[in-house]
Amino acid sequence: MSDTLAFDIYGTLIDTQGITGMLEKHAGHNSGAFSLLWRQKQLEYSFRRGLMQLYRDFDVCTVQALDYALLTFGIFLSPAEKNELLEKYRALPVFEDVTESLEQSRKAGFRVFAFSNGKPSDIEQLLVHAGIREFFIDIISVDEVQSFKPDPAVYRHFLEKTASKPEHAWLVSSNPFDILGAVAVKMKAVWVQRSPSIIMDPWEFTPTLTVKKMDEMTAAIQSWKNRQGS
Ligand code: LAC
Repeated sequence: MSDTLAFDIYGTLIDTQGITGMLEKHAGHNSGAFSLLWRQKQLEYSFRRGLMQLYRDFDVCTVQALDYALLTFGIFLSPAEKNELLEKYRALPVFEDVTESLEQSRKAGFRVFAFSNGKPSDIEQLLVHAGIREFFIDIISVDEVQSFKPDPAVYRHFLEKTASKPEHAWLVSSNPFDILGAVAVKMKAVWVQRSPSIIMDPWEFTPTLTVKKMDEMTAAIQSWKNRQGS
């Protein structure tokens, strides 16, 4: 059977910083810093909820992280303005190298899935909006496990649901914590290092492969497999 690809969504296919322009009218020159804090807190809240076993879906992490960022920057938004921002979060832009990369993965015969912390309905909406839904066999969400990445249970759920063996299943992600989560359960992992300033966590695991751009990914996996003779 062909190898399986598990594409991470936020930060990998979909640009979470794509909200920055929309934030300008509220946060002015702080919009970049606001957007980064919002994203960092969203992830931190997901990690903490995983550890505390207090699962609420990723939307809750996103809303509570937005509230935290608003308090930090002393910005007040009306409920309508907040809803407008959250609606925009469900229509974030796709990175420019993604469609070509998905096309290559499909041509190479990989089994392609979306695998995310996000709720299935949010991921569906993002992928449809980005015009890339057709590339995915299915959307696998941590919501089915009621925990978050990098809990090993969510990676195991992905393997089980897609009937994949870890040595033939590749996580494709630009998020270092996600890469380590996958490698820790013996999956393969391609780290998409979108900028040289992003550092891989210096833990006892490393990504199987690192690429600078998403459209280098399929060729990198194929040549790795040729080298291994697998
Ligand atoms: C996701 C997180 C990692 O899409 O952003 O799963």
